[in-house]
Amino acid sequence: MSQVRKLVAGNWKMHGVASQLSEALLIAQSLAQTPAVCRVALCPPTTLIHRMSEVLGDAAVLVGAQDLHPEVKGAFTGDVSAHMLHDAGAQLVIIGHSERRAAYRESNDLIAAKVATALHVGLEPVICVGETREEREAGQAVLVVESQLAGSLPDVLDAAHFAIAYEPVWAIGSGATPTIAEIEAIHAAIRAHLVRRFANGASVPILYGGSVKPDNAAAIMQAREVGGALVGGASLTARDFLPIIRAAG
Ligand code: 13P
Repeated sequence: MSQVRKLVAGNWKMHGVASQLSEALLIAQSLAQTPAVCRVALCPPTTLIHRMSEVLGDAAVLVGAQDLHPEVKGAFTGDVSAHMLHDAGAQLVIIGHSERRAAYRESNDLIAAKVATALHVGLEPVICVGETREEREAGQAVLVVESQLAGSLPDVLDAAHFAIAYEPVWAIGSGATPTIAEIEAIHAAIRAHLVRRFANGASVPILYGGSVKPDNAAAIMQAREVGGALVGGASLTARDFLPIIRAAG
């Protein structure tokens, strides 16, 4: 949808120490010289959120978190609340990434609770969905994604700012990607779900994620209903991330 302003977000996962903030600065400097058409975000590990937001200042790069706790506060040793992330400088937060759904058995219900908490403090949620290889091979990709959406998008998202990231599990970190037609089919199903449920469903950006690289970014960004990208490995350096940002138009 051409009226949706694309969002290109980098998910640094468990990579990055202070010395890598220079990559964020290089990205910001390039965007200061030639502003991006899309919105740009970097989601470093929690330990870097505050420093990255200080280093970036008012640069045109949003800072995001990769997860949050569903409770506002409490005796949850080792966890980080939405308010703490916001206080540290985060503006958005990735929720329900498949690595967390798999490794920590995060359920749709838990993800929905996290989304509601994020909205409560003004963090923009980027909610992840995506099928495994087995599910795709069984012809279940659309069904799986629809049921993830049904379970992990709370009704309070109505009229809120949020984004969906479609990340097929088998495409993450593998170098493999769906065909453009396969991406378009899932994105169309996601759009239909959003329009059915939310007043602003037509304008929510639907990001694609999974092995987005400088050499495939342009084709993916031009696919119907692709509203940007959630980028893992290729977001760690300005050299790889900048061409992906530029490919967003
Ligand atoms: P890669 O871009 O490294 O495949 O990771 C995608 C991803 O999981 C982003 O959240």
